[in-house]
Amino acid sequence: MLKLMGFYAPRNLRIVRGEGQYLWDVDGRRYLDCHTSHGVAFLGHRNPIVVEEIRNQLERIMVLSPVFDSEVKDEVTKLLEMILPKHLTYFYLLNSGSEAVELSLKLARRITGRKKFISFINAFHGRTMGALAMTWNPSYRKDYDPFPWEVEFLPYNDVGAVERAVDDRVAAVIVEPVQGEGGLSAAKPEFLKVIRERCDRTGAFMIVDEIQSGFGRTGVLWAYQRAGIEPDILVAGKSMGGGFPVSMVAAREEIGAKIEAGAHGSTYGGNPLALAALKGGIKALLEDHVVEKAAEAGELMGRMLERVASENPESVRGVRGLGLMRGLELRWSPTPCIQELQSRGVLALRAGLTVLRLLPPYMITRQDIEELGKKLNESLKTLASRKTT
Ligand SMILES: Cc1ncc(COP(=O)(O)O)c(C=O)c1O
Repeated sequence: MLKLMGFYAPRNLRIVRGEGQYLWDVDGRRYLDCHTSHGVAFLGHRNPIVVEEIRNQLERIMVLSPVFDSEVKDEVTKLLEMILPKHLTYFYLLNSGSEAVELSLKLARRITGRKKFISFINAFHGRTMGALAMTWNPSYRKDYDPFPWEVEFLPYNDVGAVERAVDDRVAAVIVEPVQGEGGLSAAKPEFLKVIRERCDRTGAFMIVDEIQSGFGRTGVLWAYQRAGIEPDILVAGKSMGGGFPVSMVAAREEIGAKIEAGAHGSTYGGNPLALAALKGGIKALLEDHVVEKAAEAGELMGRMLERVASENPESVRGVRGLGLMRGLELRWSPTPCIQELQSRGVLALRAGLTVLRLLPPYMITRQDIEELGKKLNESLKTLASRKTT
C-alpha cells in the first residue's frame, strides 16, 4: 500500500472547505483557523481578490519561462514597489520560503566571497540544506551534516554576542524579527540596530527573514520596521500569495547589480499563476487595509491572551509575540491544549517546546477573539484539572 511519508503528526481531521477565517470538516463542523496552514492563510481562505486574479490568469496562460515578458509580471513589479522599502531595488520570486532563504544565502556567499554565517538560537529558516544550516533545532539538523557553510548560533536578543561575533569573516547575519517556529520571541529594536551597525562596519549582509512575520501579520507591514533599520536583503513568503506558493527575495541595488545570468534560477519561480496570486495578495493587502486591521485585531488578541494567562497561572507562563503572531508560553507541551482546542472548534499550532501558537487571518473578529478566549480558558482548565486528579 502506498503511504505518505510521516514528516508531520496527523491531526485526524478531514477538511473540505475554507472561507475567510474558518474551515469546515467533512461532517460540516466549523473551525476558527488559527493554524492557517503554518501561517499561510493570513489573508483568509479563498480571499476573493486572490481567487479572482488566479481565475483570470487560468483563462490565459498557466506556465511561462522567466525569460519571457508578460503583463502580469509588469503589474506585480509595480505592486511590489508599493510595499517594498525604496532601497530594495531588485527582487526575485520563488516558490517556498526555504528556496528564498537559500537564494539570500547564496547571494551573500557569492557577493561577499565569505563563507561564515551568523544565525540565532531557536531560529527557523527552512529545510533545504543551506536554509537548514541556519535553522537551530538540533532534531531538524540531526544526521544531515555536513552543511554547505559554517554557522555560528548566537543567543537571540543578545546585543553583546552580536558585537563580539560579527567580524569581517562573516558573509551575512540572518534574523527573524519575530521567531516563528522557535517560540515567538520578538526582537528588541536595539538588537536589530546592533546587527545593522555590525554589518555596516564589517561588510556582512543583514538578511531579514520575514517569511512568517511579514506582510502585515504583526500589525506593521514588515516587522523589522519597528526598529527603524533597513536590511540588505529581505526574504518573504507564506501570506503574500494568499495560499498559493510564492516567495520573494528583495535586495539592495549594489547586490542586485552584481547578479549575472546563470548564478541562480527556478523553473517555476514567478510562474503566471504565482504572479496572479501575488498580484491578488498585494491588492488585497492594500485595498482592505490589512495592516491596520491586523494591528487592531492584534491588540484585542493581546489583551485576551493576557486575561487568559492571568486566569490560568498554573498552566501559563506568559504571552508571546506581536500583532496576530501570538502565543501562550505554557508550563508543559502545547500538544494536549492544541487537541482540546481542536475538539472545541479552534485550530492552533505549536512553536518550540512549550509555546501554543496562534496565527489567525487578519479578518478575525472581536467575537471570534472572545470565543477563542473562552475556549482557551476551558481547554487550560480541563488540562489543569486532569493534572491535579
Ligand atoms: C521564518 C521562516 N523562514 C523560513 C521558512 C521556510 O518556509 P517554507 O516552509 O515555505 O520552505 C519558514 C516556514 O515556516 C519560516 O517561518
